[in-house]
Amino acid sequence: MGTKLSVNINKIATLRNSRGGKTPDLLKVAVDCERFGAEGITVHPRPDERHIHYKDVYDLKPLLSAEFNIEGNPREKKFMDLILEVKPTQVTLVPDVTGQLTSDHGWDTIEHKDYLIEIISKFKKAGIRTSIFIDADVKMIEGAKETGADRIELYTEAYAKNYSLNKEEAIKPFVEAAKRANELGLGINAGHDLSLENLKYFSKSIPGLLEVSIGHALISDSLYFGLENTIQLYLRELK
Ligand code: PXP
Repeated sequence: MGTKLSVNINKIATLRNSRGGKTPDLLKVAVDCERFGAEGITVHPRPDERHIHYKDVYDLKPLLSAEFNIEGNPREKKFMDLILEVKPTQVTLVPDVTGQLTSDHGWDTIEHKDYLIEIISKFKKAGIRTSIFIDADVKMIEGAKETGADRIELYTEAYAKNYSLNKEEAIKPFVEAAKRANELGLGINAGHDLSLENLKYFSKSIPGLLEVSIGHALISDSLYFGLENTIQLYLRELK
């Protein structure tokens, strides 16, 4: 089974919100991403709704046929309610703090084990696949297994940052983490700062990589190449 490409459309919402209207049309972009080959759509609503609005998530659900992945911090009641009502294919739990520019750390799965067990069991009862955002750290992977999560999402910023300096070194902790996740039967997703430059090496080095979610670089590339071509270019890196 290959690695699925889930397109994160937060940046489209950011562009739309900058003028307060409906352009670009987020719903149309999501449907077109699927039409252009995306195997999933990701959104990450935040409490201040500075990009994806909660209403967008409800509006998107009936329009999508590919996998719908919603990311966010379950400490927000509004987020919990949203997930349990929308019932996406997957919820990815991210330990963001309010106002954070973008996700910049994974869960401490040991410290927050009991909390994660409680939250994850609620989603599992509702039939929603669960993934938790974590750093490439074997201890955190082992902790993730204890929480009952189906998958982990490896936080790839460190890989992306170090890729141009020394890609063999940059990938090492991710390979170790992925091997342990495979041994434990955890599915592996990945995301953050993946790009046309660094994606192929990541996907071919990580055994059992199920899904990548990509927003910033993909939407930026689409300014030059167009959305359809860009999605095809990313898919090509994964095949
Ligand atoms: N995964 C998580 C948890 C994120 O918060 C983000 C950014 O919203 C991504 C993946 C995608 O990162 P990028 O926009 O750099 O591709």
